[in-house]
Amino acid sequence: MAEKKNEQMEAIVSLAKRRGFIYPGSDVYGGLSGTWDYGPLGVTLKKNIMNLWWKMFVEDRDDMYGVDAAILMNQKVWQASGHVDTFVDPLCEDTVNHRRYRTDHILKDKGIDTDGLSMQQMDQAIMDNGIKSPDGNPLSESRTFNMMFTTQVGPSANQAINTLEHDLHVLSMGSGLDEHEIQKPSKYAQVIRDYINKIDTNVTYLRPETAQGIFTNYKNVVDNFYPDLPFGLAQQGKAFRNEISPRDFVFRSREFEQMEIEFFVHPDKWQESFEHWIEQCRAWFDALGLPADKIHDLEVPEEDRAHYSKRTIDFEFDFPIGKEELMGLAYRTNFDLMNIQDNAKKSMEYQIKGTNEKFVPHVIEPSFGVERALMAVLASAYTEDEVNGEKRIVMKFPEHLAPVKYAVSPLLKNKPELVEKAREVYQILKKKYGAVMWDDNGNIGKRYRRQDEIGTPNCVVIDFETIEGDGMVTIRDRDTTEQKRIAIEQL
Ligand code: GAP
Repeated sequence: MAEKKNEQMEAIVSLAKRRGFIYPGSDVYGGLSGTWDYGPLGVTLKKNIMNLWWKMFVEDRDDMYGVDAAILMNQKVWQASGHVDTFVDPLCEDTVNHRRYRTDHILKDKGIDTDGLSMQQMDQAIMDNGIKSPDGNPLSESRTFNMMFTTQVGPSANQAINTLEHDLHVLSMGSGLDEHEIQKPSKYAQVIRDYINKIDTNVTYLRPETAQGIFTNYKNVVDNFYPDLPFGLAQQGKAFRNEISPRDFVFRSREFEQMEIEFFVHPDKWQESFEHWIEQCRAWFDALGLPADKIHDLEVPEEDRAHYSKRTIDFEFDFPIGKEELMGLAYRTNFDLMNIQDNAKKSMEYQIKGTNEKFVPHVIEPSFGVERALMAVLASAYTEDEVNGEKRIVMKFPEHLAPVKYAVSPLLKNKPELVEKAREVYQILKKKYGAVMWDDNGNIGKRYRRQDEIGTPNCVVIDFETIEGDGMVTIRDRDTTEQKRIAIEQL
C-alpha cells in the first residue's frame, strides 16, 4: 500500500516537471534542497488557488481587510512573538558523516509515534530501539535547532561567524579528532551566534509565518477603518523555514507561501468564531474539489500545541505520502497583541463603539499553506484510466482551478484554411477566457494525451466540416473523452 502511494507521488512529481508545473529549485546548478520553482502551468494553478482564497475570504466578506506586510521585520517582532527562543526542532547528527536529521522524523520513519515526547525522551527512544542513521551509523544526542533564517540589514558580524563555523568544520573533518571534538566548532559557533543575535541590532530573520505582519498592522487598520468586532485581517505571502530535512516534494519546503487570517474577537465569543472558521475551512476544501472523506480533523493535545495556542485543530489530508497536515486552525488568545502592547509600549486595546468597554481582542487564526493545498489538488486530480485499450494519465482539476480552460487545434497543421479558422476560434476564446492554449503539435491523439496530462477540461478541434459544412467545431470532454459538435458561439 505504502509502495503504491509512493509510486503515485513519484508519478505526480514526474508529471509536474514534464508538463511545466513545478521544477526543482536551481536545478541547472544541481539544485538547492527545499526550494521549488513554478513553471508556466504551475504558477497559473497556484495563482488560481490563491485568487480563489482571496475572493472567498476577503472580497466576498464584509468583515475582512487585506494587508501585505514586508517580509523583513524588526527583530523585536520575533523576540516578542517567542520565535527566537522557541521556534525550534530537535536535530541529531550522523556521528560518522555528519548528515543532520530531525530526530522526530527519524523515529516516525521507524513507526514510532513522537507526539508529546520531549527531546530527551526521543533520544531515549533512539537508544532503546537501537536506531541508527539512514546510512547505518550511530546518531548523536539531539540539540535544538532554530528554524528561522537569520539575515542582516546592512553589514553585520554574523556573516563572519558563519564563515568561521564553516572553516572550523572543514578543518576538523579528517583531523583525527574524536566525535565529541568534531562537534565542538558547531556548538561554539551557535553560542556565539545566539549571543550576537541578542546584541546585534542589524540581525533580522526571513519571516517564518505571515501572521506577525498582520498583528503589527492591527492598530493601523483599526485606526483607519473603525471595524466592528469580530473582524479579520488577511494576508498572503512567502514564509521561510530552515527545515532540517525538507522532503516530500513541496510538502515541506524551506521557502513556501501562506494565506493567513487573524480574526479578532471579543474574548467571550472565541468559541463561536472558532466554530465559524471550522465551517469556513470545510467550505474551502470543497472549493478546492478535495474529497471530504480524505480530510480528517485532529484536535491537537496541549503538549503538542504551539506556545501561543489554547486550542488547535489540524486539518489533515490523505496525501500520497500518508495522512499529513494540510492546514491549521488555532485560538491564539490575545498572546500576540499583548506581546506587542508590553514590548512596544503601545495600546492594542479595542473600544466597543458607543460604550466604555475596552480590551485587547482575542484571535482565531486559520492558517493555510499554499503548497500543501496545491499538492492536495494535484493528488486529488491525478487519475489513471484506460482509453481505447491504452493507459491514460489525466489531471481532473475542477474547471475553475485548471490552468488551461480550452485547447484549440486545427485538425491538420499543414492546411492553411484549417489553421486560419482555428486561429479565429482561438482568438475568440482567448478574449473570453484568457487561459486558452494553441496546440498543433503531433497528431490529434497525442494532443489529447498532452492536454489530459495538463488537465485541460475542453479541447476544440477545427476540421474540414467546420469550414466546408456546418460551421460547427468538435469539442472533447477531458473526463469522459466524449466528443460533440457545437456551434462556435456556443463555446
Ligand atoms: N501562523 C501559524 C503558523 O504558521 P504552522 O502550522 O506552523 O502555523 C501553517 O503553519 C501552515 O503553513 C501549515 O499548516 C502548512 O500548510 C504550511 N507550512 C508550514 N511549514 C511548511 C513548510 N515547511 N513547507 C510548506 N508548507 C508549510
